[in-house]
Amino acid sequence: MTEPATDSAWDPQQYAAFAGHRGRPFVDLMARVDADRPRLVVDLGCGPGELTLGIAQRWPDARIVGVDSSPEMLDRARRLDTGGRVEWVEARAEDWDPMWSGASIDVLVTNATLQWVPSHLRLIPSWVESLAPGGTFAMQVPANFEAPSHRLMREVAARHPRADDLRPGLDRAQAVARPETYAALLLDRVPDVDVWQTTYHHVLTAEPDAAHPVLEWVRGTGLRPVLGVLDGHERDAFVVDYERELEKAYPRRPFGVLFPFTRTFAVARTPR
Ligand SMILES: C[S@@+](CC[C@H](N)C(=O)[O-])C[C@H]1O[C@@H](n2cnc3c(N)ncnc32)[C@H](O)[C@@H]1O
Repeated sequence: MTEPATDSAWDPQQYAAFAGHRGRPFVDLMARVDADRPRLVVDLGCGPGELTLGIAQRWPDARIVGVDSSPEMLDRARRLDTGGRVEWVEARAEDWDPMWSGASIDVLVTNATLQWVPSHLRLIPSWVESLAPGGTFAMQVPANFEAPSHRLMREVAARHPRADDLRPGLDRAQAVARPETYAALLLDRVPDVDVWQTTYHHVLTAEPDAAHPVLEWVRGTGLRPVLGVLDGHERDAFVVDYERELEKAYPRRPFGVLFPFTRTFAVARTPR
């Protein structure tokens, strides 16, 4: 299955440009997963694979599966995984069957992915029900859709000549719920639930003549619905307008650009 035509393909290199910043929430999420000797661990929306390989190092005896819908991301993951440690599976989260292997999952982690899966509130219950006793579901989604980076993207899109074509993709890419929604959804099924939000204050390097770093950050993720619709002059005009707004919202300072970014985390564990 392919992704909707309105998004540009994932570009692992562009995504990796901020790997250090993007890896931190994953580390914080996994710090709350206290599984001892899991047998089957799934990383749903594994992306380019670095973080999945980190999971494999943490649990050397576990069977590790990375699932992603992007052939480009999986290609990079397979090339990184020189030891063939992880099973890389191309599937959309919407179609993936958590019982595909016949074995219950001990740890199901999904980091920075469910914002791209608008139906995830319907899917989470089946994922939690597929866990082994004492199994863990751990998720993290961005909660920054009202931040200037995304608000300005919508404003620039609204005044662009192709506004009607841009709106559906940008609306779809905001499909995250409030923390209390995730908490209630999980607590209806399991008693051991931990939900929290963190705002990271990323300090991004900003060379005077280089593109604005927040533009480069969202190029790899949130801007994909725009980049998939526009090309040529239309795309250039959008980027120039958007970057001008970003320069005002996130000024370049001697230390770089400060980019606050809020994320929602949820961890749920089934009874033993
Ligand atoms: C922002 S990246 C996160 C990758 C990795 N989890 C990380 O934290 O670096 C989002 C990933 O979700 C994948 N993705 C997007 N929509 C998906 C879907 N419907 N099903 C499965 N994966 C999806 C993308 O291909 C991409 O690799």
